[in-house]
Amino acid sequence: MKKLLGLVGLFLLGAQACFGDDAPAPASVVKINLTAKADTLPLFPGAETNVWRYVVSPLPPNSTKTSFPVIYVKTGQVLDVNFKNELSEATSVHWHGLDIPASMDGHPADAIKPGGSFRYRFMVPNRAGMYWFHPHPDQRTAVQAAAGLAGAIVVSDAEERALTLPRGNRDQVLILQDRYISAGNQFQYSGNPQPGFLAPHILVNNKRNAAQNVETAVYRFRILNGSNARIYKLAWSNSMPMTVLGVDQGLLAAPVTRNYVMLAPGERIEVWADFRSIAVGNNVKLISQAFTPGGPAIGLGLNQGAAFDVMNFTVNAAVTDSIVLPSILSSGVPGYTLAGATNFANPRLIPLSSSGGFFRLNGSPFSMNVVASNEMPVLGEAQIWVFQNNATTQMPHPIHLHSSGFRVLERTQSGAFPTQVASMQDGFLDEGLKDTTLLMPGETLKLVQKPLFYTGKFLYHCHNLEHEDTGMMRNFQVVP
Ligand code: C2O
Ligand code: CU
Ligand code: CU
Repeated sequence: MKKLLGLVGLFLLGAQACFGDDAPAPASVVKINLTAKADTLPLFPGAETNVWRYVVSPLPPNSTKTSFPVIYVKTGQVLDVNFKNELSEATSVHWHGLDIPASMDGHPADAIKPGGSFRYRFMVPNRAGMYWFHPHPDQRTAVQAAAGLAGAIVVSDAEERALTLPRGNRDQVLILQDRYISAGNQFQYSGNPQPGFLAPHILVNNKRNAAQNVETAVYRFRILNGSNARIYKLAWSNSMPMTVLGVDQGLLAAPVTRNYVMLAPGERIEVWADFRSIAVGNNVKLISQAFTPGGPAIGLGLNQGAAFDVMNFTVNAAVTDSIVLPSILSSGVPGYTLAGATNFANPRLIPLSSSGGFFRLNGSPFSMNVVASNEMPVLGEAQIWVFQNNATTQMPHPIHLHSSGFRVLERTQSGAFPTQVASMQDGFLDEGLKDTTLLMPGETLKLVQKPLFYTGKFLYHCHNLEHEDTGMMRNFQVVP
């Protein structure tokens, strides 16, 4: 153990870590091999599907060949990843939501050539929750993600382990994606830079018409929107409310209920799904309700904002489950305020705009090494970012910041998109710590982010991957 800690200490020095007092001490190392490669998978009846996928070894418990990899870590552990790129093109691995050094974050400038390898090593300081990993190479993120590259990271911590929550096979990861599946069972991709890739076949964990038997019990579903561009308006078909335990960056202070939850690409929620009052033999569906997105919604047969089923749950066995929804979940949601921000008098203003058919942040397209003077947050300071979705973009955009999580503190509507706003506004979970949030058409949103641990160059971007790849992405530099 002593030797282990010594190594961790060396690693942290090497990475020029700058941990605040509240950073947990590294406890141990989780070592894995991760390979990105072309493969075929038996996903649907008939021909196997050509995919690009991540293979993790040793294989996590209960995983099958067709499931997405799930990496389990505890807060404070070091994740040590021996990554190999066996794809035919360059790629990088981005650890979405993890608060790690810039050199480990999968920036497009650090993409790994075909046949190359890279050792990702970092301490996971994040709160208990579900994070994820996906490719992030320049202009090829959308294509690589649509080919199947994604995985989940489930982080636990002492506070979360002390709660009475569904565990074991009642604690499940659900990855939601839309695909166009040809008659020959192949994924077909065509990414339109305006709406993004919107496909007609909804998959959950790579399964079509996803369905599962459940008992008369409570389940905890950790739901990731791993789609390129599709936004979900999640609800239950029997109109029981959505009971939400957590969001992107961990548990809420206390559970909340919503009639529906908006889940944009990159966002996660944890749901308390209580099937105890449903009679054996009956079913309930997780659905996506209709909404009015604005902008060019046209998809390949299923438009943005169209209603569809996500997953069917059939209650097939009566059991006794006396679990009680905890009234308090976490004391760890940072209480950032606008007034407490160091740039309260002069907040960072980032307009969203449209130019020549492409979307922009801060008035300019992505440029590999460029950082503008208003893109330099200060390490350890809580600062306001104001994102202004100008009327010209016409549509909602999921805004994502790398580095530390943020709180959404204010949404102001221009009044120009009343139908769009009315169809979505009750589905946001701004009470949690976030790393991705949906910005409505015509909306001005104020968030506070406090870079906790690392200086360096990080990305912020729209998580509509076709928007990201066509330049709706920028660097920011965390400065000392
Ligand atoms: Cu999940 Cu920079 O992205
Ligand atoms: Cu990210
Ligand atoms: Cu966008």
